[in-house]
Amino acid sequence: MATPVIELRDVSTVYEGERVPAIREINLSIELGEFVAIIGPNGAGKTTLLETINGLLPYTRGQVLVLGQDVARFGPQLRSQIGYVPQEFQFDETTPVLVRDVVLMGRYGQIGLLRRPSTEDRTRVQEALELLGLAELAERPIGKLSGGQQQKVLLARALAKEPKILLLDEPFSHLDFAARDEVAELIARWHRERGLTTLIVLHDLEAIPSHCHRVVLLDGGRIRQDGARERVVQAFTLAYGK
Ligand SMILES: Nc1ncnc2c1ncn2[C@@H]1O[C@H](COP(=O)(O)OP(=O)(O)OP(=O)(O)O)[C@@H](O)[C@H]1O
Ligand SMILES: [Mg+2]
Repeated sequence: MATPVIELRDVSTVYEGERVPAIREINLSIELGEFVAIIGPNGAGKTTLLETINGLLPYTRGQVLVLGQDVARFGPQLRSQIGYVPQEFQFDETTPVLVRDVVLMGRYGQIGLLRRPSTEDRTRVQEALELLGLAELAERPIGKLSGGQQQKVLLARALAKEPKILLLDEPFSHLDFAARDEVAELIARWHRERGLTTLIVLHDLEAIPSHCHRVVLLDGGRIRQDGARERVVQAFTLAYGK
């Protein structure tokens, strides 16, 4: 059997200064090209799980392997292959960085800190901007954009990276309905055309993209369900009545 792209073995993560793990005894294996939704109530541990996979939070037990390597040891190298859209972001109004440069940051893994961006880098950035309808805003400071526009910029940055893995934490939270549909379609297309392994955290069940077949239900830091979409959504609805 092929090596999983993401593998967590008996993983727990405790925040500094806390006693109770925010996620506990997580066993999760994601294969190449899977599209998995992670759902669960507020405080379930969804963001903690994504940040643990991304190597941004040190896990306190078990082992996390991404692309066959331990994130505790190879975090920066692995992150150059992971596109991450965080749930929380806020750019100060006075942040001087332009939208185009934020998206260009997605290319730093490929560029390296000392090399100048190539034509290829600039092309990828322009493509990502256009895909998300941000071309007109490219030369504006990021802090002067609306929350929804900023969220699209972060998605553009993740796509410009041409990652092997996409981790999306509530990527529709600031978007209006029309934008949500467009962005969902874009994510689905990238998954389809590029076989991009995708994890998407959502709390709105209706927002689960239609071809996302596997759903993981987290609650109280533990995986309660992991399986076919219909079955897990049904269990979620029964448990939380929504
Ligand atoms: N920085 C932190 N320090 C200490 N505890 C934290 C921290 N961040 C989160 N927690 C705790 O960890 C648990 C899981 O939080 P997490 O943010 O992963 O939940 P979530 O499922 O993403 O929730 P939401 O749907 O509200 O985004 C919660 O009990 C929360 O209080
Ligand atoms: Mg969260």
